[in-house]
Amino acid sequence: MTKVLITGITGFAGSFLAEHLLSQSDVEVAGTFLAENSINNVANIKDKLDLVKLDLTQKDAIESLIAQKRPDVIYHLAAVASVAASFKDPVTTFNNNVDAELFVLESLRKENLMNTKVMVISSAEVYGYVRPENLPLNEDAPLRPGNPYASSKVAQDFIGLQYALSYKMPIIRVRPFNHIGPRQAPGFVVSDFAKQIADIEKGKQEPVVKVGNLDAKRDFTDVRDMVRAYALLMEKGQSEEVYNIGSGTSHKIQEILDTLIGLSNTKITVETDLQKLRPSDIPEIVSDNTKILDTTGWKPEISLEQSLKDTLDYWRNIE
Ligand code: GDD
Repeated sequence: MTKVLITGITGFAGSFLAEHLLSQSDVEVAGTFLAENSINNVANIKDKLDLVKLDLTQKDAIESLIAQKRPDVIYHLAAVASVAASFKDPVTTFNNNVDAELFVLESLRKENLMNTKVMVISSAEVYGYVRPENLPLNEDAPLRPGNPYASSKVAQDFIGLQYALSYKMPIIRVRPFNHIGPRQAPGFVVSDFAKQIADIEKGKQEPVVKVGNLDAKRDFTDVRDMVRAYALLMEKGQSEEVYNIGSGTSHKIQEILDTLIGLSNTKITVETDLQKLRPSDIPEIVSDNTKILDTTGWKPEISLEQSLKDTLDYWRNIE
């Protein structure tokens, strides 16, 4: 029986990853969470999970967790994930993301768990202000981070590589492009728009969707496809290597908004909210997903339209 540890198990990706792993193979799944209310996200599988409330910025707490669980596999998902929030508080984003990863890796070394496989979750944001000739982005594209979140992910990415090189620890790095779906926090664009539309339909908000920059283009993958990619790469990916995970197609945020509004029967207008504009916004991020396809055969299966519909339905069903 493989012992899996997922940091941030009750989060957006963590909750779907736990479901996916339980449906796949003979695994014991433990995971850390921070906020009590996030347990709702794993309500349907809670009895099968070993949930540990733990703040990953507390080194001693992580050390004792790893000493006690002695996992075979760690998906290190927990992180401050919002680009917008990172502009407002770069120090918290950077310290949380870097500290938590270092504490996990150092705990493994301390316990001499040098064969535990670790997946480090980097981000497509590390490519940042991409030069047009580098689109679509393969893993060799230069890293040109454009916000504090992105630089925290460059650090996480390279700490993962350094531990793999220095100590021969089996560490697989992934650079997920945007992922969307039910359970995502409303601070991210699809959830943000979907929640507002659902609130408008419920009469909780005037019929105006407040938006930020609609000109940016992003590469969206459903979270359920994303976690399937994580599991496949944990099995078939190579230590020291890094893998982009994305659909290979970019969509304008305007198109996302239009599709979501089109899924509603309510008459809705759109207004720019200056608070939602960032100090700077990367114009386009799109993946070349050849490497993951060649390594695992992974391709996304859930269409963008389906993800948008499922996300809207999720918010419609929340009180
Ligand atoms: N959040 C938000 N809210 N974004 C908006 C809005 C709005 O009302 N209006 C326009 N946008 C634009 C943002 O300016 C950005 O260009 C795009 O929508 C996507 O924003 P987010 O959903 O916040 O995601 P992100 O692209 O900044 O970062 C996401 O993807 C990364 C991987 O590419 C996050 O999920 C990161 O954690 C992830 O690493």
